[in-house]
Amino acid sequence: MKVLVVGNGGREYALAWKFVQSPKVNRVICIPGNGGTATLEKCQNLPMRVDDFDGIARFAGVQGISLVVVGPEDPLAEGIVDYLQAQNIPVFGPTQAGAQIESSKGWAKTLMEEADVPTAKGKVFTDSDQAKSYIKQQLAPIVVKADGLAAGKGVIVAKTVAEAQAGVDQLWEQGFSKLVVEECLQGEELSVFALCDGESFRLLLPAQDHKRVGEGDTGANTGGMGTYAPAPLGTPELLQRVEREVIAPTLAALQKRGIRYCGVLYAGLMVAADGTPKVLEFNCRFGDPETQVILPLLETPLEQLLLACVQGKLESFPALAWQEGCAVCVVAASEGYPGKYEKGKEITGVADVEEMGAMVFQAGTRKKGGQLVTDGGRVLGVTATGPNFESAIANTYKALNKINFEGMYFRQDIAHRVRQNT
Ligand SMILES: Nc1ncnc2c1ncn2[C@@H]1O[C@H](COP(=O)(O)OP(=O)(O)O)[C@@H](O)[C@H]1O
Ligand SMILES: [Mg+2]
Repeated sequence: MKVLVVGNGGREYALAWKFVQSPKVNRVICIPGNGGTATLEKCQNLPMRVDDFDGIARFAGVQGISLVVVGPEDPLAEGIVDYLQAQNIPVFGPTQAGAQIESSKGWAKTLMEEADVPTAKGKVFTDSDQAKSYIKQQLAPIVVKADGLAAGKGVIVAKTVAEAQAGVDQLWEQGFSKLVVEECLQGEELSVFALCDGESFRLLLPAQDHKRVGEGDTGANTGGMGTYAPAPLGTPELLQRVEREVIAPTLAALQKRGIRYCGVLYAGLMVAADGTPKVLEFNCRFGDPETQVILPLLETPLEQLLLACVQGKLESFPALAWQEGCAVCVVAASEGYPGKYEKGKEITGVADVEEMGAMVFQAGTRKKGGQLVTDGGRVLGVTATGPNFESAIANTYKALNKINFEGMYFRQDIAHRVRQNT
């Protein structure tokens, strides 16, 4: 079968990397892909925009694509799935209505309240003065969130009332005319992905990531600097609670609204010290970089699993098979990221890492002539596995040391939380 992956990041590379391992997959096409997917065996790139729904639909139709998987949130929020479904193209991902669970934090908050899903107590505002007086009444710490997609730049976790109110003004000036103000939760964060077929769902291994650019979780927010799975915080007991208290009622509430949610329902959770999970947000797609540690541990053929979701046959699908052990991914970024950075730096060492049995998930890379060069802030992620976290961490950093490009930056402390806990 032929699989089409939409997107160009490390997550999409990881999806393509997993698909090509299946003997049932003879070709993977990435739109537009990156320097890594260009050279992966059985895989090729197609230079097309991810918002060119008509072009993508036509290509998928002519080529007889058996499965389209959409990586990023933007095309999902813009309705790529509705467009492809209307032309009978099998696609994994929620429709535009379903994608609102990520694209509108206010919509998601209302849905959660209706379904009695545990989440931070909050209120939706379309008037900035009302938001500010609510903040004054609730007091700090408090969290202000833009309603729409903001690429990780729409949330202010404020320590004071003044900071929160300034956050309201700031988001308002950026053009967000709807905000959510919510209670500040304490605890540890956990990412849980549920694969959904509209009715049933299956959880993948829980992961934790590191969003801040600096060691010790300091500095600016990023797309993610590293991650690990299976996160020990996600015990079987906790995951059962998440199934029962979060995923099942959310899918039921979506169905009540007439939404058949096929795709990843990604719950960003805050787990309190007493083990109570609350939803910080939902995303409507695979997480990046969490996918880069989850897929290397998944033994079940991914294309069979996602096809079962698309066909509504998840209920009868065999239990997911996982490799024993742990996976750690460390992201190598361009100097300056998440601020300004340069592109076009020659990357060396990828083959050396792969020879060691570790994986290089390319993200911001490009082929220039025969040479691989940097083309983004997060350039690549190196993942290695091991029987425990200590060995997975050591293997990952040993492999990462083979990679080199001018201005390469990475955090030295990825998965340190696990080290502290064991
Ligand atoms: N209610 C909250 N209490 C404490 N921290 C929060 C809360 N909501 C969000 N955060 C912090 O802000 C980060 C970003 O918020 P999130 O809702 O995940 O938005 P996005 O990923 O769209 O930027 C979270 O990962 C978490 O660290
Ligand atoms: Mg988030």
